[in-house]
Amino acid sequence: MKLSFWKTHTDTAGQVDFSRLPRHIAIILDGNGRWAQRRGLPRTAGHKVGAETFRTIATYCRDIGIQYLTVYAFSTENWRRPPDEVETIMVLLKRYLLEAIDTMERDNVRLRFMGDMTPLTAELRGLVDQCNAISDRLTGCQCNICINYGGRGEIVHAAQSFARDCLDGRARPEELTEEAFEGYLYSAGIPSPELLIRPGGEQRLSNFLLWQCAYAEFYYTNVLWPDFTKRELLRAIAAYQHRDRRFGGVKT
Ligand code: IPE
Ligand code: IPE
Ligand code: MG
Repeated sequence: MKLSFWKTHTDTAGQVDFSRLPRHIAIILDGNGRWAQRRGLPRTAGHKVGAETFRTIATYCRDIGIQYLTVYAFSTENWRRPPDEVETIMVLLKRYLLEAIDTMERDNVRLRFMGDMTPLTAELRGLVDQCNAISDRLTGCQCNICINYGGRGEIVHAAQSFARDCLDGRARPEELTEEAFEGYLYSAGIPSPELLIRPGGEQRLSNFLLWQCAYAEFYYTNVLWPDFTKRELLRAIAAYQHRDRRFGGVKT
């Protein structure tokens, strides 16, 4: 583990108990467009800087020992944006995938893609498949990138898969449990996030991880994603560690 950063940021790091980190952190990468607009730049410039921030934060999560990081990078609703903005995001995704294919083995980071990949180009889908295949051989921190992802769509997709299993005689409706249903979600086998972070100031889920965040602790900050730092992440973890998680029970 790298200690140099903590030494220089002891104010925040001092409040984090590194032996009690959340296993899984989810982040809605929001605020790229506003970051750029405030600087008189095109929104796409914000996405470029946001992609760099993602690299920094994902690496830092690995360094401090977070087991799962899930990020919302492109929603099923984001296709409503101007074509040039969507195009830039897809170009950045391609660049990221090519880089990841070269480096993920060395870094021991497993990359998974969650969402409906069918509208992506054949080239992008091929790169996603390559990343998934490399990940199968690795054991390190898992980073899930949600692309063309929507929480409602994910639940409907899971329900369709379950219905198909019923028709084929592999499952029975009366035997379905919450645990079994989770096995049909994109996130099958991954524990639910304990902490959900939304930079950019909005206080909504925007269709992210609707099932998985049933008991996640929410942390909102006005900091825009391109300005998000390791220190901000530690601040969010410190806030999470002060929450009283009751899961519907009472304090004993
Ligand atoms: C998040 O930043 C990135 C994507 C949704 C792809 P935004 O582009 O939503 O930035 P704001 O919210 O408009 O500032
Ligand atoms: C949520 O941000 C989606 C991603 C960050 C990928 P949006 O910017 O699309 O959400 P709204 O429109 O503010 O709800
Ligand atoms: Mg936004």
